[in-house]
Amino acid sequence: MNIAVLYIATGRYTVFWRDFYLSAEQFFLSDNKKDYYVFTDNNQIDFEKNPNVKKINQQKLGWPYDTMMRFDIFLGQEDSLKEYDYIFFFNANLLFVAPVGAEILPTADKGGIVTCKHPASYGKAIDRFAYERNPLSSSYIPFGSGHYYVQGALIGGTASAFLNLCRWCSNGIHKDMEHGIIPIWHDESILNKYILEKDSLILECNYLYPEGADIPQFKKQKKIIIRDKSDPKYGGHDYLRGISDNKGGKRIKRRRKFNFLGIKVSIKI
Ligand code: GAL
Repeated sequence: MNIAVLYIATGRYTVFWRDFYLSAEQFFLSDNKKDYYVFTDNNQIDFEKNPNVKKINQQKLGWPYDTMMRFDIFLGQEDSLKEYDYIFFFNANLLFVAPVGAEILPTADKGGIVTCKHPASYGKAIDRFAYERNPLSSSYIPFGSGHYYVQGALIGGTASAFLNLCRWCSNGIHKDMEHGIIPIWHDESILNKYILEKDSLILECNYLYPEGADIPQFKKQKKIIIRDKSDPKYGGHDYLRGISDNKGGKRIKRRRKFNFLGIKVSIKI
């Protein structure tokens, strides 16, 4: 089986690449052939000479376009990508910490697509999900609708389903831009609209487990962690996004506590 791994590391996001690559090589569908498409404006990245690393020149578009235009960025490689069996996108700050195998491959009855619940949506009533509520947006989801809130950090699928998703989401983003609308969570908003309308495999939060979180039912089964961008060692959100040159990056100490199905959960926010 051939797998394409898509990874956007423009500007300062390359800080995560080395660890990501090594962890994916070790743990992600490890018996299969993987090619890494690294979209970056950096002249040099680690492992660029490895035969399975393809450095694609991608200029930094600025926030929030670096994230919101991701579907267009992927579609720019459509001719090569359509030749793979599966395509996966992972956020730059993800890290595999345990084997991830065929259980995350979506079958045709799941629309050929896999995504993962957003840990911050845990225990929330659907009307408190961060869906786009502007009826003029392509990402609009009315109150009372929805089942899950998924995070944009992990999207996978068979090549054809993944590329169809990219076209569908790109179309919605472009329609919004023509009307001067930026959906509340950018690409994640339109992804949630897609998930609402089509079938997909939805993973639990152990596949997107926030570093430093304490979610009792998942903490022993962590598979992929979300590294904490607010940690000074990475520079903080604004530094990584290129909005600020201050490498301060405050560690956020607040924790959000809530009750999920009778279990006490505490997440660092
Ligand atoms: C995050 C997600 C990113 C991107 C972003 C949009 O939650 O991890 O991949 O979708 O939202 O602002």
